[in-house]
Amino acid sequence: MGKLLLLILTWALMLMHSAAEPLFFHNDSTLTWDEARSYCQVCFKDLVTVTPKYSAIIAHNVTSDYWIGLRKNSTGNSSSLSWSRWANGDRLTFQNWYPGWPVFKSPVPKIDCCSCSCTCPLATTPPTTTYTTPDVTNTSETLENMSSYTNVTGLNTAGTSGASISGLLPTSIPTLSATVAPIPVEATCGKTPIPVPDLPDPNANYIEDSCVAMLSIGAWVEKNCTDLLPFICYEDRFSGKVSVDNVTANSALLTWLPGPGVINYYRLEVTNLTGGNMLTQNMGLTLKYSLGDLSAGYKYTVTVFAVKCGRDIDDPQKTSFYTIPNKVVKLSVTMQTNTSITLSWDRPEGNVDLYRVQYNGTEQNTSMKIVNTSGMEIDRLNPATLYKFSVWAGVNDISKWSDESTVNEYTKPGTVSDLMVSDNTDISLNLSWSRLPGEISGYRVVATNDSNYIFNATVVKQPPFKIEPLPPGTKITVNVTAQVNGSLEGGTVQVVSYTAPGPVSNLTLSSTNSSLTAHWIRTADNFSSFTVELQLDGGPVIKTANTSDPYTTFTGLKTAAKYGVTVYSVSGGLRSPPVNSSIFTLPSPPSNPSVVSNTSSQITFQWIAPQNIATAEYSVRLNSSFWTQTWSAVVNNKTSYMFNNLTSGTKYQFEVRTKAGDLLSDPVSLTAYTDAQLQSISFSMLCSSAQPLHCDNDTIREKVFQKLNARLIQLLGDSVVWSITKQQSENV
Ligand SMILES: *[C@@H]1O[C@H](CO)[C@@H](O)[C@H](O)[C@H]1NC(C)=O
Ligand SMILES: *[C@@H]1O[C@H](CO)[C@@H](O)[C@H](O)[C@H]1NC(C)=O
Ligand SMILES: *[C@@H]1O[C@H](CO)[C@@H](O)[C@H](O)[C@H]1NC(C)=O
Ligand SMILES: *[C@@H]1O[C@H](CO)[C@@H](O)[C@H](O)[C@H]1NC(C)=O
Ligand SMILES: *[C@@H]1O[C@H](CO)[C@@H](O)[C@H](O)[C@H]1NC(C)=O
Ligand SMILES: *[C@@H]1O[C@H](CO)[C@@H](O)[C@H](O)[C@H]1NC(C)=O
Ligand SMILES: *[C@@H]1O[C@H](CO)[C@@H](O)[C@H](O)[C@H]1NC(C)=O
Ligand SMILES: *[C@@H]1O[C@H](CO)[C@@H](O)[C@H](O)[C@H]1NC(C)=O
Ligand SMILES: *[C@@H]1O[C@H](CO)[C@@H](O)[C@H](O)[C@H]1NC(C)=O
Ligand SMILES: *[C@@H]1O[C@H](CO)[C@@H](O)[C@H](O)[C@H]1NC(C)=O
Ligand SMILES: *[C@@H]1O[C@H](CO)[C@@H](O)[C@H](O)[C@H]1NC(C)=O
Ligand SMILES: *[C@@H]1O[C@H](CO)[C@@H](O)[C@H](O)[C@H]1NC(C)=O
Repeated sequence: MGKLLLLILTWALMLMHSAAEPLFFHNDSTLTWDEARSYCQVCFKDLVTVTPKYSAIIAHNVTSDYWIGLRKNSTGNSSSLSWSRWANGDRLTFQNWYPGWPVFKSPVPKIDCCSCSCTCPLATTPPTTTYTTPDVTNTSETLENMSSYTNVTGLNTAGTSGASISGLLPTSIPTLSATVAPIPVEATCGKTPIPVPDLPDPNANYIEDSCVAMLSIGAWVEKNCTDLLPFICYEDRFSGKVSVDNVTANSALLTWLPGPGVINYYRLEVTNLTGGNMLTQNMGLTLKYSLGDLSAGYKYTVTVFAVKCGRDIDDPQKTSFYTIPNKVVKLSVTMQTNTSITLSWDRPEGNVDLYRVQYNGTEQNTSMKIVNTSGMEIDRLNPATLYKFSVWAGVNDISKWSDESTVNEYTKPGTVSDLMVSDNTDISLNLSWSRLPGEISGYRVVATNDSNYIFNATVVKQPPFKIEPLPPGTKITVNVTAQVNGSLEGGTVQVVSYTAPGPVSNLTLSSTNSSLTAHWIRTADNFSSFTVELQLDGGPVIKTANTSDPYTTFTGLKTAAKYGVTVYSVSGGLRSPPVNSSIFTLPSPPSNPSVVSNTSSQITFQWIAPQNIATAEYSVRLNSSFWTQTWSAVVNNKTSYMFNNLTSGTKYQFEVRTKAGDLLSDPVSLTAYTDAQLQSISFSMLCSSAQPLHCDNDTIREKVFQKLNARLIQLLGDSVVWSITKQQSENV
């Protein structure tokens, strides 16, 4: 609705505007009406047409009679059509006759027909007087204000400036008021018969071919068309505009409209912003011109004057335009953070009033007035993101923009957060951190040990990351920096941690039957302490010792048991990898061996287990040196053993040891005999001697027996059960 209203309003305004505004040109040369009209038609549009709106303006500065564009139509048969149209064809909608004008041709008066001749002139007079009075007063009131709308142009080409009828002016005004008075005469006219013979010729003022002149008071009178008078021409104000096309940085194509009427030539004037006149040129009748040699980004004003009869017609066609500025040069990024980028560029040659900056379709600070070297900071960007920045140079009225200059750049990545170290070992650390937004190309990890680089610029795609190998028991400083585009880095974040100490070396164990001692060699650093754990036979930890010495002793242990020992170095709360070893405590020997039972071929032994034994394993052995027999066995979980297949009556040596792994305790031993199954073996010895009766000598016999007995003792000893007795038989 509002839009429609606006549209109608605009249309109405345009209509009003297009109703041409006339301009008036007074010419003081004197010409006949026809000559004056021809002149007006050539140099302006026509002789003036007077309308109520402009009559005051036209009458301004009129000091004598001037031709205006009205002539009697002598071909018109009816008197009312004699004054119907102006010279330019407009209808005569307004008349401003001086009283008594126009003059119509009267029929020849007859004396005997006085009543007729009396009524005719009186009937026509009253209407003219009613027009005249108000117009004259109006005109004289507004005259002073109208000077700017009219122009009196001197006509140098024709006539002289004579024939002034300004003498009429002072006398006319009193006449005017006198004319108003006769109105009541009309009433008396019919009543009083007028004496006929003294009347002047009623057609004395009648002009057959009459043209209209304007008096200095603005009222009109008829004149002989061949009289020489100054005249007033008019011309509609010309409205046109130069159009500018194909504007470049240094050229433009100008076109303009043809002026009204017969134009002699067009004059083109180009000025620059400072008003310097760049070009004034007679263009002949051409209606376009290609303007060159302009400077980029400057404003130019173009005026085209249409020249007619040596005069610039009103108004000249005019326009202003800017040439396209040159594009900015050396556009570059001078600084970047994770959320901002600072651009800088050089002002191009020519003029630039402002710049427009955009990135990825987003307008930034629409325009800025910047002179000389220029730049700007663009903030609120996303980190680690590629942006395309475009800069245009522009002119004050933002009608022209240069070509685009572009630069692509990444914002810096942000700073890594939540950097943490976990799983510290003696050779590695596990790093983790939060991933950063944007197009992170990697994370640079640098690990240093005091001032020594351990890791140089290792680029990691994504967390987590394990740093190894590292020296054990060392303070490690780690820097993590995010990178974008492989080189552009964000802030560095640092974390300090330690590697665990290295394992101990050369762990050696020694044991007694109730204690265990561990020795080891500490690793390079001297600050570690140690934790030693003791386990029994792969079971849970039963004792823990903390020491700062490289050895420790556990006492009160089980005998003949397998103990495991684990040693850790400890430093800064971190444990080294474990070092293990195991050893058996020495076994104690069993005690109180005894024979439980024996037969001729079996002996069963038993013994008492040593105290504090963990696992009961014994090694038993039985041997007879006489028979060179040996038995041995390992006894599990029992404290007795039976030997079979023994030889009767034999002395056996029994030995039992506690066994722990490969270790054996000292033996306890016992001697026992199998039951003897006695047999008698008889043998006889015959004595013969050269000396008679020598064999009967008891002493000798006893001596031999003793020798035999000694020999048997030597051979059998107590290894077997035996005895020998002697019987003497005579005369055998
Ligand atoms: C004069 O009047 C006649 C008849 O009314 C008309 O045809 C003619 O165009 C008029 N001439 C002028 C100049 O007005
Ligand atoms: C009126 O005449 C005076 C003196 O000749 C002149 O200065 C002035 O410009 C004229 N005004 C117009 C509207 O022609
Ligand atoms: C009238 O015309 C003359 C000559 O063209 C010019 O110098 C003068 O400025 C004009 N005066 C007005 C009021 O337009
Ligand atoms: C008009 O003037 C011309 C020349 O001066 C003359 O011949 C003619 O008679 C005049 N006409 C009238 C009606 O006065
Ligand atoms: C502007 O230039 C183009 C190419 O040079 C041409 O085709 C076009 O006709 C020109 N426009 C005018 C109005 O001359
Ligand atoms: C404007 O034109 C004048 C005369 O040609 C010249 O001296 C001046 O330098 C020009 N100014 C600009 C800004 O181009
Ligand atoms: C901006 O535009 C450039 C070029 O077209 C493109 O490579 C980049 O990914 C864009 N960045 C964003 C944030 O859209
Ligand atoms: C690591 O880089 C630093 C500086 O860039 C350099 O001085 C050092 O020698 C490098 N160390 C190694 C092990 O590459
Ligand atoms: C680690 O970062 C800190 C600052 O955060 C810096 O002072 C130090 O030089 C960096 N170390 C290395 C090896 O880059
Ligand atoms: C530690 O043991 C290794 C081999 O087991 C041996 O070569 C080295 O000499 C031992 N070190 C010491 C100090 O006993
Ligand atoms: C030892 O004896 C105990 C109890 O008599 C029994 O539980 C265990 O299994 C035995 N061990 C062996 C190795 O025979
Ligand atoms: C005794 O020895 C023999 C032969 O060596 C064997 O066959 C037998 O089984 C053994 N007797 C016992 C009780 O061990």
